Amino acid sequence: MGGVALSAAVHGLHHRLGLPFAFEPIPFPKPFLVWGGSTGVGMFSVKLASLAGYKVVTVASKHNWELLKSLGASKVFDWRDPDIVSHIKSWAVDEGGDFIKQGIDTISEKNSVETCAEIVGGGGKLITLLPIPRKTNPKGAYIQQMNVFDALKPKKTTYSRLMTEWNHNVIPKYLESGLLYKGMIPLKLYTGGLEELPEAIDYMRQGKASGHRVVVQLK
Ligand SMILES: NC(=O)c1ccc[n+]([C@@H]2O[C@H](COP(=O)([O-])OP(=O)(O)OC[C@H]3O[C@@H](n4cnc5c(N)ncnc54)[C@H](OP(=O)(O)O)[C@@H]3O)[C@@H](O)[C@H]2O)c1
Repeated sequence: MGGVALSAAVHGLHHRLGLPFAFEPIPFPKPFLVWGGSTGVGMFSVKLASLAGYKVVTVASKHNWELLKSLGASKVFDWRDPDIVSHIKSWAVDEGGDFIKQGIDTISEKNSVETCAEIVGGGGKLITLLPIPRKTNPKGAYIQQMNVFDALKPKKTTYSRLMTEWNHNVIPKYLESGLLYKGMIPLKLYTGGLEELPEAIDYMRQGKASGHRVVVQLK
């Protein structure tokens, strides 16, 4: 279930940032940032972080807000808002005063890394999905790039061991308990097999994938 997007969210949140699984959530809710909630990795990150007991704040276009709330987001802002940093920080204060100290940037370009670093601030931890642009000012935040394929390689590294554990022992529990379920993430399905792959790639290149995963089904 979920393919690379779910694996990347699991790796970023649980393996790199150390969020607990849903079966032992944090005792008191803390805020957690998902930049790009409507990306594939973002939608799964919103779900996993909210199941771990976090109050998730995320950013997306308005037409995706209800979807993200249905996945567990406490608050959604539009990423185009020029005052996004102060709005997100004020939200965290209004929600109980905890600073946002952890987050994942599922976009990792167009200045998003620096914006997220400003939100999690000094001492905060941020995971990116792409290499950190060279001129990024980390604003005192600890920023780490991750690549889920490192964890999917059949090597005996800590990350691949953790991913094997997730795939064999943890995800079945999420599915059996109904915490993750089929149909949770909207799909745009191409059923014509590999022949439709170029069309599906064009669709994504044109930036049309928004709040859904694009899947090409093999015949
Ligand atoms: N390192 C890894 O292991 C790993 C794993 C998987 C993916 N990736 C990378 O992660 C990136 C995302 O992949 P994906 O397939 O999940 O993305 P995707 O579904 O193609 O992303 C499309 C979404 O991006 C959102 N978006 C575009 N610009 C944004 C911005 N400036 N701020 C916030 N949201 C913005 C759009 O939101 P709205 O439509 O709501 O505006 C749209 O829903 C890609 O670069 C991919 O290569 C890396």
